[in-house]
Amino acid sequence: MTDINSAKSKIEKTGFLDIDIDPAIDLFAGIELLKKEKNAIILAHYYQEPDIQDVADFIGDSLGLAQQAEKTNADMIVFAGVHFMAETAKILNPSKKVLLPDLNAGCSLSDSAPPALFKLFKDKHPDHKVITYINCSAGIKALSDIICTSSNAQKIVESLPADQPIIFAPDKNLGAYINKQTGRNMVLWNGACMVHEIFSLEKITKLKIRHPEAKVIAHPECEDAVLNIADFIGSTTGLLNFSKNDPATSFIVATETGILHQMHKQSPDKTFIPAPPNNNCACNDCPHMKLNTLEKLYLCLKYEMPEIMMDEELRLAAKKPIDEMMRISALYNL
Ligand code: 13P
Ligand code: SF4
Repeated sequence: MTDINSAKSKIEKTGFLDIDIDPAIDLFAGIELLKKEKNAIILAHYYQEPDIQDVADFIGDSLGLAQQAEKTNADMIVFAGVHFMAETAKILNPSKKVLLPDLNAGCSLSDSAPPALFKLFKDKHPDHKVITYINCSAGIKALSDIICTSSNAQKIVESLPADQPIIFAPDKNLGAYINKQTGRNMVLWNGACMVHEIFSLEKITKLKIRHPEAKVIAHPECEDAVLNIADFIGSTTGLLNFSKNDPATSFIVATETGILHQMHKQSPDKTFIPAPPNNNCACNDCPHMKLNTLEKLYLCLKYEMPEIMMDEELRLAAKKPIDEMMRISALYNL
């Protein structure tokens, strides 16, 4: 039996609860029980493994998850996603206990923008407003004017006057895509998602030749060359809705493979082909998202750790641009 102090020291060492679980335990039933006992809610991103999606109370894209985190009445939020997502939940709803099953679940986009360097970049463009993709640390959020996600980025950019100079960070691919859509010329930070930037145009083109009826659907974190051949571009929720509502029956999906679980569930008669990356793998998993497992989720609920803690001054500074995003999203019913 692990006590709280030894659990804490495990987290200090490894970032998660590295504890053996009795193999006889039914984790699905155990998680349900713990959720009720603790009045906890599990929020999961579409890139989580299927078992985690199946025990979640809400599965969504970054905007949907932030909205759920803000409005929940639960006492505890278990965030099955990556660190910036759990941190955003804590920023929006600080009285809740926010847990992340593995503190090592980071994000290459978030890592690409260290606040000290970003501050220097921002200082070089004093007349620019800063619009930042939600995939960033609280330190970067605190240096921003408005946060956006992939589902509201265009509307957020268009909410500023056409002649307002803008810095867009940290995703250069999403930024370039929004520049194209809006005719703006935003200054882009040079960050990219390690998952979406490695889709292979050549392999997708070959797949398209083998499956000419399939529609290519892509996340805007993909590079321009992939977006150019896409039939539809959208956030994870956007891609899921498109695959459900469009009359096509087969799709080549250029985003993290976790989304295929909901696509199969919502459209069991349709075919979903994961777009291949330019390495030897057939599909493309986010190594950060996939650090969460059902075992870690169970332990996290049981021991109520690892917990996201935040300095109050930083939280308030990071909340301002998120509130602005929420305000604009509500205006457009996003
Ligand atoms: P959305 O789910 O908001 O489209 O974001 C995708 C992503 O890469 C999250 O890390
Ligand atoms: Fe970050 Fe890309 Fe993983 Fe999303 S898929 S968490 S953007 S590294």
